[in-house]
Amino acid sequence: MPRGEQMKLGVFFHPTGHHVASWRYPGVQADAGINFAHQVEIAQTAERGKLHMIFFADGVGVREARMEALSRSAQYIANFEPLMLIAALAAVTERIGLVCTASTSYNEPYHIARKFASLDHLSGGRAGWNVVTSGEDSEARNFGRELHYGHAERYQRAREFVGVVKGLWDSWDDDAFIRDTASGVFFDPEGMHTLDHHGKYFSVRGPLNVPRPPQGHPVIVQAGASEDGRAFAAEHAEIIFTNHILVDNARKYYAEVKARVAGFGRAPDHVKIMPGVSATIGATEAEAKAKHEKLQALVHPVVAREMLSTALGRIDLSGYDFDGPLPDLPMRENAGRSTRENLIDLARRENLTIRQLAMRATDARGKSVVVGTPAQVADHLEEWFTTGAADGFNVMPPYLPGAFDDFVNLVVPELQRRGLFRTEYEGKTFRENLGLARPGSRYGTPAAAE
Ligand SMILES: Cc1cc2nc3c(=O)[nH]c(=O)nc-3n(C[C@H](O)[C@H](O)[C@H](O)COP(=O)(O)O)c2cc1C
Repeated sequence: MPRGEQMKLGVFFHPTGHHVASWRYPGVQADAGINFAHQVEIAQTAERGKLHMIFFADGVGVREARMEALSRSAQYIANFEPLMLIAALAAVTERIGLVCTASTSYNEPYHIARKFASLDHLSGGRAGWNVVTSGEDSEARNFGRELHYGHAERYQRAREFVGVVKGLWDSWDDDAFIRDTASGVFFDPEGMHTLDHHGKYFSVRGPLNVPRPPQGHPVIVQAGASEDGRAFAAEHAEIIFTNHILVDNARKYYAEVKARVAGFGRAPDHVKIMPGVSATIGATEAEAKAKHEKLQALVHPVVAREMLSTALGRIDLSGYDFDGPLPDLPMRENAGRSTRENLIDLARRENLTIRQLAMRATDARGKSVVVGTPAQVADHLEEWFTTGAADGFNVMPPYLPGAFDDFVNLVVPELQRRGLFRTEYEGKTFRENLGLARPGSRYGTPAAAE
């Protein structure tokens, strides 16, 4: 944390909440994924709390799982396509950043450049793109492939993809569209730039048919803890999501990635590292624990085992004793690394059985979890923030809207009292509110001062 800075706060929404049983919890709208009124309510709550962003994850397919478990889960099933959703939410919010996921494996760069540039214009400069490479063969099968790209290849493709998208966002100088009705000149030909990209994965001529975005480039967000994932984040990301459960692992990661960012000639504090954290809040610790236990009791064991199996990289756990220790597990070459490693580390340190680990994974799908009073939650965030583990947090409410209302009504004021969080938005655009400079154009417009 640079001295004098306050923490950045985003909220990561799963429609009913992050806890796998949230859709069954009292007060939760079971149809939240396609309930727009609900989405408006939670987005406006986030803005009332002065949060930096709302974030929606995404996958391009229904995950493969045993039907017995899948049919008991609301995760990534029956919800809105997130770019559509945040475009609609742009119209009912004014200051908050709007971030969603789009895959570099199953899109074309031109489409992504165009959509996020449009979102940036229609939201007045509040767009952010969470760049993912996708992780599932079930997604590949919706795009003419039997298997997903290999881990290294998908990151190579992602690097080229993001380079093309940024190039397309620079297609027009900021002042290219003069729209001079008197002379009849709509744009200045000098202000138009053709990318002419010919790479390993993409050939894109350009220019983009959308003017340069208000933010220059929408904010680039990324999560990925493998070697390739970290290198990608260090080169391109402006916000990095992480899923550390243990604060000392988070600190190591933070120091390492900030050093890598500097290695790319970028200022380390222009990259905000934001671990996910799930908070169940009660007026007393006992009340918070009771809420949490109520949620945990709603988890079907088959669902818990399947979630753990997915988080560990799609390892079949059905042959192991559920109440026995976590065995040494094979690694699927193509699987995501970070959540898996964090969970294995947790099981080893705390000597957890498979069932116990599975129940921990159900909480926030393998992110850090706090259950307590507003002051206890604030203590947790303060410790991570002030000891070099985080620049802020991606808050993952376990159930909605209740757990997020509690966060905004009770934890945010506590953080503000401690001077750790702002009481008002500083600027208009997402970048201004994050303290990030507006990128200059590769064709000459200089970067704006912060
Ligand atoms: C907070 C967070 C949000 C994520 N959101 C998505 C998502 O929406 N879609 C997706 O396919 N992957 C998502 N991921 C997965 C990452 O993009 C990445 O694939 C994963 O962390 C594994 O990367 P690695 O192999 O470099 O460790 C997310 C990860 C984290 C920690």
